[in-house]
Amino acid sequence: MPPLTSSQKKSFESEGVLVLPDFFSQEECDSVRNRMGELVSEFKPLDQGTVFSTTEHKHAQEDYFLTSGDKIRFFFEDSQNAQEQVPLELSLNKAGHAMHDLDPVFSAFVRQPKLAQVAADVGFIDPLLLQSMYIFKPPRIGGEVVWHTDHPFLWTDPPSVKGFWVALEDATITNGCLWCLPGLHKEEPRQRFQRSESGGTEMVILNPDPYPTEKKIAIEAEKGTLVVIDGLLPHWSGPNTSSRSRHAFTLHVIEREVHYPDDNWLQRSKEMPLRGFETQLLD
Ligand code: FE2
Repeated sequence: MPPLTSSQKKSFESEGVLVLPDFFSQEECDSVRNRMGELVSEFKPLDQGTVFSTTEHKHAQEDYFLTSGDKIRFFFEDSQNAQEQVPLELSLNKAGHAMHDLDPVFSAFVRQPKLAQVAADVGFIDPLLLQSMYIFKPPRIGGEVVWHTDHPFLWTDPPSVKGFWVALEDATITNGCLWCLPGLHKEEPRQRFQRSESGGTEMVILNPDPYPTEKKIAIEAEKGTLVVIDGLLPHWSGPNTSSRSRHAFTLHVIEREVHYPDDNWLQRSKEMPLRGFETQLLD
């Protein structure tokens, strides 16, 4: 996999998104899919009391989320609870947020020279691997992810986050592929998600205007495709209305030499500092 061409770099700069088909091999995709299958089979939600499906449990649910930045935790689709009669994988929304540091298979998947090279090519000088997510988007119940940008959730000053989204299965319009608004990454952030003084979280609205979505484009992506997304690019994914799942993996990367606020939702313990790609570049 050669480094990005100058036209790909220019395209990413002007559009805020770059689609690289066949970036990961089928075997590489299957390695993380199979590993996640094992992690899911080891997960015992009914024993561990980690399922929060009612509003009374909102605080516990928030705490479970807020302390997941350096763990591997599972989150259910809104409409779902842990039910013994439903296979877990068919009711899970995602797993997060530190598979890439805690699990050797996920670590090897992201710490590859070809991915480090793409990060360098889209402008990273000293990248840190902040967050990983495995998104299940199960058939028929996989929910919509509303229009948003990633920077408000992984705020740095100056903005530096970029998303590396990988199709682990073919993503189509019917099973809920990504959509985006090319070019709008040059606009100011419209919100910021942060820890509140009460111990929970809050969304601070900086600009209440909705995004003009008339020019949205679908990013249908075959298994193995890498989509690089600027942290200020608005994106969305629809519900999965099909009978096929849409597994995807995302890695969010920030620059080391920027300010990372203490009131960002995602915090690491001192024992588990953020790490980089720790691999050679292709150049
Ligand atoms: Fe996102």
